[in-house]
Amino acid sequence: MEQINVYSAEEVISKIYVEDGMEMLEACLKPYEHVFVVMDANVAMSCPAAYEMSQMMNRHGVPGMLVDVSEETKCMETVMEICAWLLENGADRDALVLGVGGGITTDMVGFAASIYKRGVRFANVPTTLLAQVDAAIGGKTGVNFGGYKNMLGTICQPEFTYICPQVLESLPMEAFQAGAAEMLKTFIIEDSGNYASAIALLKSLTDDFIAACEGAAILSYNEGHWPEVLSGRLHEMTPLIAAAARVKAGVVSRDQFETGERRKLNLGHTFGHAIESLAHKHHNDIDHGHAVALGMVYAAQLAEKLEMTEPGFAAGIEHDLDSCLLLIINPYSIQDMAEAMTKDKKAEGGKVHFILPRAIGDVVVHDMTVEEVVALL
Ligand code: GLY
Repeated sequence: MEQINVYSAEEVISKIYVEDGMEMLEACLKPYEHVFVVMDANVAMSCPAAYEMSQMMNRHGVPGMLVDVSEETKCMETVMEICAWLLENGADRDALVLGVGGGITTDMVGFAASIYKRGVRFANVPTTLLAQVDAAIGGKTGVNFGGYKNMLGTICQPEFTYICPQVLESLPMEAFQAGAAEMLKTFIIEDSGNYASAIALLKSLTDDFIAACEGAAILSYNEGHWPEVLSGRLHEMTPLIAAAARVKAGVVSRDQFETGERRKLNLGHTFGHAIESLAHKHHNDIDHGHAVALGMVYAAQLAEKLEMTEPGFAAGIEHDLDSCLLLIINPYSIQDMAEAMTKDKKAEGGKVHFILPRAIGDVVVHDMTVEEVVALL
């Protein structure tokens, strides 16, 4: 089992285990006497590994709660339900709350644990690629509030995050793509050849998927073929997932509270969140992965306009993302996105922290007004 540490100064403040299989989770939980599991109800039904895990917990008499998980239920009411359930079940200061699910689940469970009885310990078993490479690492917890994403929350580190790539076997294609976009984002921030390896693997999975769809027209790809394509090749994802976790652990170790370097993890997200919020407003269906992929292309184009990068760099990223089916046509204009970006909670003093890539593995934080960005793009 690979162990990756998150540090504060010299001290290990959180551990990340990467393991092909769920068996070792039991050993990871051994030091904790009172474990309480909060699991995404949908994951409990659709993910065989999570179901197996809940059976194991049942055998050990570990109390379990299922939660209904969506952006709408990612709110204080659900956090209060989790806290009420912990209280009813006698969770005390020595409790460990284990969140099992995607990023919404681990964000909410971590938040509930971080405020329950002024904070109890928690750990994550992320069941989506996005949570494995990003959301469940680094201690950002929280819920949506007042129409904004993650407006209430804490930075509080999990005891550990147990990453088992096999749980992704039942992950729908769209959710996989969301995680793939975040994984590529991580490697654009810090690369040691992982970006090229990830693109090669994702492209090869895409080619297998297209072949499985037997030449159907692009708009009628049957995503039902995705699990059969992915399940046989999941083991190839393990080193890339571990590499992404190592990059994120390093960034968080150097800047846990996001005063500088950690902002780089928002690459593609300022544009991406604007696209997502416009899509939400217009009842369009653009998921997080596709929005972030578009956002990374805009960030690269902006870097190119500012002459921070080689000509053709943005087109290269665009081609890579497109070859992995991560790009869609953006129905919104730069002006529409500008309005949404101005409302982004990361805007400070009229300027927004844009994260701009200079090359693969080299990004910088560049403060600009939205008007400056509109003028350039
Ligand atoms: N997801 C970005 C971060 O954890 O900072």
